[in-house]
Amino acid sequence: MAEYNHETGRLAPPRHIAIIMDGNGRWATKRGLPRTAGHKAGAETFRKIATYCKDIGVKYLTVYAFSTENWKRSETEVAAIMALLKKYLLEAVDTMERDHIRLHFFGDMTPIAPELRALARETDEITEHLSADDFQANVCLNYGGRDEILRAARRFAADCVAGVKKPEELEEAVFSGYLDSRGIPDPELIIRPSGEQRLSNFLLWQCAYAEFYYTDTLWPDFDEKEIDRAIAAYHARDRRFGGVK
Ligand code: FPP
Repeated sequence: MAEYNHETGRLAPPRHIAIIMDGNGRWATKRGLPRTAGHKAGAETFRKIATYCKDIGVKYLTVYAFSTENWKRSETEVAAIMALLKKYLLEAVDTMERDHIRLHFFGDMTPIAPELRALARETDEITEHLSADDFQANVCLNYGGRDEILRAARRFAADCVAGVKKPEELEEAVFSGYLDSRGIPDPELIIRPSGEQRLSNFLLWQCAYAEFYYTDTLWPDFDEKEIDRAIAAYHARDRRFGGVK
């Protein structure tokens, strides 16, 4: 049972919430706007929801910003998403220390533009100086769950070849330590707005015991009340982890 928080008068929220920020394109099309306008609005929603999650005591918020499959979109759309990320990272460099917000990236950064990678390194450095207790936003960029697992498997295999690890030492906790999410607890709650009910290669390993929450609301329209509803639904779930109560 979730603990009651006497300061907020609410049940404690999940420690880690993950969101597939879906529906930006449809939101824009419905308004006769280019899809990129949907991403702009979606990025503002990310800012609003991250602030709210921090305020209500969520420790980790992980968002799916760009998947390994999203390169299939038009050059204009990919460029617009990357430009938005750059804008938010530039802003983060100036504000994360003041606001006590840690920022971390999941995904293969190799094909990301050098300028954006340098900014991500800068936010990583600032994060290192912040307290481990501070709120942390994880942004999935060029991320795919299968790709993350493959990259982790390759790193473990390389450690075996180097004689640092032995194949028989591989256990779930050891493997988790090779993932992009190493050191971060698995999300308890996964939210997907926009009416789609699929995982789309998001956090495949980490989702093993997550609770899922779907809503028809499109991501740019998503607000604090929606998060409250998702958390209330999560509190109403009977989590048994394969056991019997
Ligand atoms: C999915 O909606 C959304 C994306 C692929 C991009 C999400 C990116 C951002 C919100 C911008 C930058 C992020 C941060 C963290 C500042 P969709 O385009 O697939 O929507 P549709 O299904 O309606 O077409």
